[in-house]
Amino acid sequence: MGVSTDNFRSWVPRPVLEQARATLQDIAHIAACFRGEGPPPFQARGASAPSPGPVPVPVPVPVPVPVRAASAVITRRLRVLSSELCTPSALAIAFETEDGQPLGADAGQFLTVHWPLNGVVEKRAYSLASRADDGTRGRLVVKGAAGGRVSASLVARAGELRHLEVTGPSGHFVLDVRSRRHVFLAAGSGITPIASMLLTHVPLRKQDTFTLVYGSTSPEETILRRELLDLANEFPERFSIRWAFDQNANHFRSVPPPFSGALGGDLLTEILRTQPVIDLHDAAVYLCGPSPMMKAAQAVLDGANVPPARIRTERFASPGSRNVGPQNAVAGAVGSVRRVALRVILDGKTQEIIASTAQTILEAGLGAGLPMPYSCSMGGCASCRVHVTSGMAVMEEPNCLEAEEQRQGYVLACCTRPTSDLTVEVS
Ligand code: FES
Repeated sequence: MGVSTDNFRSWVPRPVLEQARATLQDIAHIAACFRGEGPPPFQARGASAPSPGPVPVPVPVPVPVPVRAASAVITRRLRVLSSELCTPSALAIAFETEDGQPLGADAGQFLTVHWPLNGVVEKRAYSLASRADDGTRGRLVVKGAAGGRVSASLVARAGELRHLEVTGPSGHFVLDVRSRRHVFLAAGSGITPIASMLLTHVPLRKQDTFTLVYGSTSPEETILRRELLDLANEFPERFSIRWAFDQNANHFRSVPPPFSGALGGDLLTEILRTQPVIDLHDAAVYLCGPSPMMKAAQAVLDGANVPPARIRTERFASPGSRNVGPQNAVAGAVGSVRRVALRVILDGKTQEIIASTAQTILEAGLGAGLPMPYSCSMGGCASCRVHVTSGMAVMEEPNCLEAEEQRQGYVLACCTRPTSDLTVEVS
């Protein structure tokens, strides 16, 4: 004699049914992880859970495959108008918004490109490298060589790109509009946000002066060289450039002649000493370039007693990670995917959801339908800052949080994954 499902449900207590349903769902979730499919969207505890359907049998594997969860982050679609090499190793991608809405960027801000690579959606920040007041249009410049896997993949698609999925614009590396004097120190692809500021503001801010020290491998590898030269020729009374090349400086004609050598501390000191046009007095100073150049430039500025409040920096680097949480707490293993309880305090209300150690706090919150704030979705803008009040997590480094914010227990929800049950407050 068989027992119908309805009869079975009628004599099993509801809490037991709910528990069994949750357990079956977890098994399905773990099995999906082992198959490399990533966890499903999160569900709020107490919400009516859908039937998990047939229960797959988990297949044990010796080493769990790390998975990246599907993201609930909403991206914006750009239509690529052209994608051409502008130096032997840099790709200029001109685009317009597909929805016809203005891009809405400030000069110096960046877009986060969501790029599928080997089955994972990677996120990388690329600064706008064009005027910011061009309505629906803009341009990114991506340096391929030594620029990382995503950059190399984009450059390899030169001429073929049709669309990009992005979040942003994001970031605070923009012109200090209180200042009348602006000094920019750039090297390599660090020129892109600075070029955006120069192309946007030099024509309009007639009372300001702008000087650029720009270091590059060689004249041939210099990104946006022609446009910057044209800008300096058009507005010589308020914009001047000092060039520095690691190689082939003698291939380039300028007045004064270019400097020869890598833009490190010694060369920068020499340029500042010999070029009175670069006047640091009361100037806002902007730094963007490879890490060694940034460190050297910062040391030179410290030596010249430029107050930190007048220095703006932009850093992009490959992510690492570090553990965060109360002192003496022990972080959970990052490598194995587990479910944890995530409590999110938002507008004074606490919402508890089931999360996975494979997803970021932001992905978990958005997946559960919570209105979590965010912009860049990759650690560069602090729009998603939350305060950890209990539990452990691991946050990717580098990110844009100040050391003091980190010491106080703030993390960025978009690049922090729980390693234990966790409570965060959206600040
Ligand atoms: S959304 Fe920009 S740092 Fe998280």
